[in-house]
Amino acid sequence: MQIELNILILLRFLQLMRFLKQAILQKKIDTIKQNQQTVGFVPTMGALHKGHLSLVQKALNENDVVVVSIFVNPTQFDNATDLKKYPRTLDEDEKLLQTLKGTILIYAPNPSDLYGDNVSSKNYNFGGLEHQMEGKFREGHFDGVGTVVNLLLRAVMPNRAYFGEKDFQQLQIIKKLVSIEKLPIEVIGCPILREDHGLAMSSRNKRLSEKQFEEAVIIYETLMEVKKEFKRKSISKLHQLVVQRFDNHPSVELEYFEIANTKNLQTAKHKRKQNTYRAFIAAFTGEVRLIDNIALN
Ligand code: PAJ
Repeated sequence: MQIELNILILLRFLQLMRFLKQAILQKKIDTIKQNQQTVGFVPTMGALHKGHLSLVQKALNENDVVVVSIFVNPTQFDNATDLKKYPRTLDEDEKLLQTLKGTILIYAPNPSDLYGDNVSSKNYNFGGLEHQMEGKFREGHFDGVGTVVNLLLRAVMPNRAYFGEKDFQQLQIIKKLVSIEKLPIEVIGCPILREDHGLAMSSRNKRLSEKQFEEAVIIYETLMEVKKEFKRKSISKLHQLVVQRFDNHPSVELEYFEIANTKNLQTAKHKRKQNTYRAFIAAFTGEVRLIDNIALN
């Protein structure tokens, strides 16, 4: 009886904490908006690197205050090991954000702060965007992303939200999400930041050994070669070129290569003059899955 009572009190306390955390954030944001100031928002899963910081810097340049959320969202992982091994470095993240000049609020909710008792995804129809590439290989991923970004956007209600082209399909899906959810928020895409040798910066790069980090550059080099050959070669020849390159570098395993129409992300079989295209790669270096993409024309 006493134990049950204690649990009940603890649950009430946790609920109150959740309410307070949310209420404090809300109050700060309300004050900012009442002062006619604008709020920029950068959602992240933490393990921050210069790629994330470039989004925060752009948001700082364009807004009075920037909210950065740090939340490893369980519903967007289709692989339990990947979720478990996802780097969590909150203290370092805070320090990195402090190196930037400007007003930054860090929002680091717990799963229950965002989801309440039901940590699960909504089912979205993103007009087909969700069935391409990442959607094919990571079941339920974009429902998870859509659900958490909707919850985060509603918690912060920024004027502008910033997302990287590193996750180009995610960026397109979030633009669609904002229109489905009728949120009065401008979604802004930001360019990909790369390591010196060209590998796209990613929190998952922290899990690569030095050797793997060097080997993974084949992803970027292949995208660059596809871009160089895009005018001259057919799409099927480009596919052959990519497969050949990865066959010659077995330490990195190609999961998919796609050339897709930039607007709807439909797989391109033939080039048409009026369309713009991007090339996309997902590949494994050991057990670490990396993605990258590049504009072709
Ligand atoms: P995360 O992988 O932490 O990325 C947060 C944001 O940083 C995303 O918009 C991503 O595209 C951007 N980003 C990551 N690496 C980048 C790079 N090298 N250059 C430019 N931008 C980069 O993406 C997520 O988290 C999650 O899916 C999230 C949207 C937070 C929902 O949980």
